[in-house]
Amino acid sequence: MIRVENLHRHFGGFRAVDGASLEIATGSITGLVGPNGAGKTTLFNVIAGVLEPTSGRVLMDGEDITGLPPHVLFHKGLLRTFQIAHEFSSMSCRENLMMVPGGQSGETLWNAWMHRARIAQEESALLKKADEVLDFLTISHLKDEKAGNLSGGQKKLLELGRTMMVDAKIVFLDEVGAGVNRTLLNTIGDAIQRLNTERGYTFCMIEHDMDFIGRLCDPVIVMAEGHVLAEGSISEIKANEAVIEAYLGTGLKNKEAVT
Ligand SMILES: Nc1ncnc2c1ncn2[C@@H]1O[C@H](COP(=O)(O)OP(=O)(O)OP(=O)(O)O)[C@@H](O)[C@H]1O
Ligand SMILES: [Mg+2]
Repeated sequence: MIRVENLHRHFGGFRAVDGASLEIATGSITGLVGPNGAGKTTLFNVIAGVLEPTSGRVLMDGEDITGLPPHVLFHKGLLRTFQIAHEFSSMSCRENLMMVPGGQSGETLWNAWMHRARIAQEESALLKKADEVLDFLTISHLKDEKAGNLSGGQKKLLELGRTMMVDAKIVFLDEVGAGVNRTLLNTIGDAIQRLNTERGYTFCMIEHDMDFIGRLCDPVIVMAEGHVLAEGSISEIKANEAVIEAYLGTGLKNKEAVT
């Protein structure tokens, strides 16, 4: 579904992404790992249209999507989760979800005046959809809770929920499991797996927790110093000398992460 060709993103003289090439297969849950500073988030930002590449190409189903802005990619079904912005923290979980789809008729005053009935219909469809999503994520009991009052992990479920309000094809997740307790991590993992099998979502996820990656992802791609170092199953990655070397080079904390 996604093909990244010799991608570069430099900041001044610094090569954060330095000739990265990789593929994300349709229907996969692809893991992206690597030491801190490897360029993973920068790569995601370039793919998702948040950052312009210095050079290189990104293709989606064969179409060149390099440098397209996030809202255009959104309509193509390519989504990246974002933290819930401050402005939305005083809105309920349900309202947060209802904000997601673009192109509603209620957006302009003219439309509001012309098509009251249609708006009401769309709103009730949106409400239904939002409630389905909350149910899917097992957080129905939080529907009227302000997003700002959720725990870190519950917020991450809600962020995942926003990708379900539209027909996403591929979702990029940057450390959804970071700082989340085991129980909630399992809930997030289950939601990702179900979205993959039941709704056909393709995922690419950055994560430092190798157990979490190992449970969900195949293949796993390892990045180091801005490019792809290795790709394979979790056991292949863990046994790969170059990968161990890359993690060792960044200190003991990372070594423990990979072994
Ligand atoms: N806007 C920027 N300006 C300058 N340097 C940047 C910028 N964004 C990222 N970098 C640098 O690029 C490198 C890669 O950063 P990036 O955030 O992509 O790494 P990462 O693999 O996601 O790391 P982590 O696992 O710690 O999240 C880092 O050395 C970082 O300091
Ligand atoms: Mg990062």
